[in-house]
Amino acid sequence: MNHLLERLKSRTRIFLLRLVRELKKSSHNMPAVRESKSLLTREIKIPVFASFFITVVLVYLMLFIVFGSTWRSMIATAVFVAVNAAMFVVQIKNKEKSIIKDNDAVVLMSFLFITAVLICQLSKEYSSPFITPVAAFSLMGAILLSQRIGVLYAISLSLIVAFLNDTRFDIFFVMLCNSVAVITNISNIRKRSDFINSGMKVSVVNILIITMFYLFNAYGVFQFKYDLIYGVLNGAIVVVLLLVLMPLFEKLFSRTTNIKLIELSDFNNPLLKRLMLEAHGTYHHSIMTADIAERAANAVNENSLLARIGAYYHDIGKLNNPQYFIENQTLGHNPHDTLTPEMSRLILISHVKDGASLARKSNIDNEIINIIEQHHGTTFMNSFYHRALEQGTNVNIEDFRYQGPKPQTKVAAIVMMSDSCEAACRSIEEPTAVRIKDMVEKIINNKFIDGQFSECPITLKDLEVIRNIIISTIVGIYHARIEYK
Ligand SMILES: [Fe+2]
Ligand SMILES: [Fe+2]
Repeated sequence: MNHLLERLKSRTRIFLLRLVRELKKSSHNMPAVRESKSLLTREIKIPVFASFFITVVLVYLMLFIVFGSTWRSMIATAVFVAVNAAMFVVQIKNKEKSIIKDNDAVVLMSFLFITAVLICQLSKEYSSPFITPVAAFSLMGAILLSQRIGVLYAISLSLIVAFLNDTRFDIFFVMLCNSVAVITNISNIRKRSDFINSGMKVSVVNILIITMFYLFNAYGVFQFKYDLIYGVLNGAIVVVLLLVLMPLFEKLFSRTTNIKLIELSDFNNPLLKRLMLEAHGTYHHSIMTADIAERAANAVNENSLLARIGAYYHDIGKLNNPQYFIENQTLGHNPHDTLTPEMSRLILISHVKDGASLARKSNIDNEIINIIEQHHGTTFMNSFYHRALEQGTNVNIEDFRYQGPKPQTKVAAIVMMSDSCEAACRSIEEPTAVRIKDMVEKIINNKFIDGQFSECPITLKDLEVIRNIIISTIVGIYHARIEYK
């Protein structure tokens, strides 16, 4: 009788596991649906060519209204718009290929430019040209898209403002200089209050250049004082526009800026706070992984801040079952001892999807969610697979792999390597520099041979640099611990 009951229990368990597996497979094949239904986070899909065409036509029409409808001005406006458009096309095609593949980025670039041209026109109509906030739009282009796009905005918008104001060279020069002054050190802009410094820079540059033109006898005293006041006010307007528009564009176009990443690194963020309180081992592991990933990303000129914050959040999915992960187990109790390898496998796999889901619910940026989803790639769960084999269960080897995707970017690959190496080096009983080096080399080589980096643009040279940085960082951590013991 007992024997029959045992068989019935085992059959039921196998049936339930298969059912869960099938359900997971079918949900995996479904198209990705954003959990947040808000208008702001909905994907905008406008073809790249359409965005470009609409921008060119709108800019032409806006300038055409100002320059007049004679055939001469129509041709002149067309040539002016064509030269500007060509400048953007050549630069983006050659140096910013990633932007062409990103619909959101192209739409943002067009939207930002059209808004800027509209504001240039309004400032001409209702105020002094020196108040035109070209620097604000150039800086937004630089932060939200790339520094090169910021420079292109600065040149193109400065030309437009100058042409709108009787082709005045002084206006072109002031706008170009104040924009370049704020774009040059965007890496120093790490919090929103840094925009105040940018505004102050704009005011100072304006004062200097307007004074220079006055000394060249470009204006009379009255005009000079008038322009100077508007030049100083320009800085204030730049700050206000940046503070109001930047968060809006970040949200509307799902852009992950350094400012946003710094905000996500705040340990008062509910998810990080929960990690600290409910899964202290994972929290500590994430901090260590972040240190390693940041240094490795820096060494290969990747976004080190993204690597750090991605590592902070990579294991938040463990919050659903923290006790099932080794770093949170105390007193030698391992709940997996009482579970079947299949069940253990499902729990481990689920922390990736749970993490992505938790991050979406908390409105964390897509770039971080991608890192969470890719941090295990399709890595094989060796120990549970062998336990399943030992128990004689009929197992499919592919079921013992994480469901991916594999890392799609260098940063995701760096977080993957830092994560695995940090976790593995913890298990070394007496960590020495040689043992750490052997362990890190083994892990990275295995991941490479297993094809985990086949979908990201990482080179063998990068892998070598990253491996050396991971070794030196982990050796440094353990060396410090041994010294302080
Ligand atoms: Fe993980
Ligand atoms: Fe991890």
